[in-house]
Amino acid sequence: MGVTKESLETALKEKLGATHVEAVDMSDGCGQNFEVIVVSPQFEGKSVLQKHRMVNDAVKDQQLKLIQSMLRVDHAGEIGANWIYKGQYNYIKDKESRDKIKEMWNQEKHHLKVFDEILASTKTRPSLLRPFWELAGYTLGSVTAIMGKEAAMACTEAVETVIGQHYNDQIRKLYAIDDKEIQKLLVVLKEFRDDELEHLDTAVQMDSKKAPFYDLLNSVIQVGCKTAIKIAEKI
Ligand SMILES: [Fe+2]
Ligand SMILES: [Fe+2]
Repeated sequence: MGVTKESLETALKEKLGATHVEAVDMSDGCGQNFEVIVVSPQFEGKSVLQKHRMVNDAVKDQQLKLIQSMLRVDHAGEIGANWIYKGQYNYIKDKESRDKIKEMWNQEKHHLKVFDEILASTKTRPSLLRPFWELAGYTLGSVTAIMGKEAAMACTEAVETVIGQHYNDQIRKLYAIDDKEIQKLLVVLKEFRDDELEHLDTAVQMDSKKAPFYDLLNSVIQVGCKTAIKIAEKI
């Protein structure tokens, strides 16, 4: 479950004795980004930094829920990526492409292993749809590889574009949170974001744009990935 406007307002009222709370969901309803106005007698005589810390402490539980929802998506995404590359590796005929795919797949294996560990250490429930992410990823990887090396690369380009943007969105949200563990997580996310963007560059260099039905493939796969992200946030 993500964070709701109501749960956030209740936490702020209870923990800060706030006389007025107004939370505005800035995230299109997925509960990942809120702006809040808090009026509380407890703020009297406090500096801006102290007030900021008091609000942060009051919403710790809510923050954890939010971060767990982010981690669940990232983990599901890395599962999908692993199975896409697995499908491509099994069906691609071109030797140079297969070697490149293997290289990128190895990085995805590392990403997934790290997220396995992060999920365990933050007691985050993984997505319940794992078998579906595996099947969807494998099907997408296999079909595009059968279509040819350019289509396989067009798939990589589309997927990594969405994943790169997704990591960037998360990085922006987490910057605002004043917490050592979050700052450690940020280092990981930035490293993985860079890997994904490197995969994107590789795909373009390896002629993704020459794929048959490039525009169609690109938009269908991007919409699919964005939908998967929305689903994995919740389930
Ligand atoms: Fe990855
Ligand atoms: Fe990737």
